[in-house]
Amino acid sequence: MPADQVSQAVPQSQIDDAARLLKEGKLVAFPTETVYGLGADASSVEALKRLYQVKGRPTDHPVIVHLADVAELSQWASTVPEVAYKLAEAFWPGPMTLILPKADHVLPQVTGGQNSVGLRIPNHPLALRLLQTFGGGVAAPSANRFGRLSPTSAEAVREGLGEDVDLVLDGGPCEVGIESTIISLLEEKPVILRPGMIDSSQIEKVLGISLAVPEPKHAEPESVRVPGALPSHYAPHTPMAVTSSENLIELFAEGMAIGRSQGILAFASTIESMKSNFGSSFYSALAYEAFITAPESADQYAQKLYDSLRKLDSLALHKILVEAVPGGSQWDGVRDRLARASAEQQ
Ligand code: TXA
Ligand code: MG
Repeated sequence: MPADQVSQAVPQSQIDDAARLLKEGKLVAFPTETVYGLGADASSVEALKRLYQVKGRPTDHPVIVHLADVAELSQWASTVPEVAYKLAEAFWPGPMTLILPKADHVLPQVTGGQNSVGLRIPNHPLALRLLQTFGGGVAAPSANRFGRLSPTSAEAVREGLGEDVDLVLDGGPCEVGIESTIISLLEEKPVILRPGMIDSSQIEKVLGISLAVPEPKHAEPESVRVPGALPSHYAPHTPMAVTSSENLIELFAEGMAIGRSQGILAFASTIESMKSNFGSSFYSALAYEAFITAPESADQYAQKLYDSLRKLDSLALHKILVEAVPGGSQWDGVRDRLARASAEQQ
């Protein structure tokens, strides 16, 4: 069901309840177009304290403040450069977060003690209804425990957070599927801190300039203020490798020879070669479920990514083998999340 219809089916009384809970300092998980967020009143120290506890996240990592309207930007940022309005007009509501100098009142519990604040207007009718009804900024990290896969459905939120979340608004599966593109506007030139489905070429087109995209691999984990930039972030429990089609087939054959249960996320042509290479052994009951044919378009791939990894992760496999995705900026977000999900825990 499209997000609009899902939203229409949720009565205003439920949105009112959610807004009231937020005002009381409670935690409300809500759908966005990217992933589900775990919302707390961004102006309440108590609510933010609880948010960090439930998330299990170090307190010096900042959270994104979600807003209903561009008019609120200047309430949360001390200065709003023209480029912010240009990007806002092009991409909001949508999967983009802007890092701006914070306004005086913005709590250190939101900013992780930094002088900047992350702001975003999400594109999901339920999120927007909640934000409008609440009438303030809602701090919301992805609604998962620190370091785990972000949830893209209400069930995944409940599974991960259980009783620790006071209310989960169910807005159906997320349409984008990976977290927002984060753009820092603190320097003269915008910098992409976390790639997402709004890619560098789209941003360049809107701004008429070329962007510097830092390589997350080169970042020193200790110095990184973006938890998404820690190498082992967004990880399934099962060890995971991302590799070429050829190598994946070889690894699979090696694993099969020693009786290992393995999961595969690969494009159709690779799956086809495996079917013809391995014949009926490919279809053993467990193995069948553990094969996922990856969508060919970056948008569809991103939308299914966390759900696919979650599924494979639930099968208690030895290893998940993922076929590397194509080059090109539209795959940057997906490539980044795959790299993090497969990075060694360190
Ligand atoms: O799509 C999304 O962005 C989702 C949905 C719920 O909106 N939210 C999300 O939040 O992914 P979280 O907390 O899982 O990741 C937010 C990222 C973190 O890596 C955080 O460090 C970064 O945003 N961030 C927030 N404020 C920042 C700031 N002032 N400077 C640098 N990074 C910041
Ligand atoms: Mg997260």
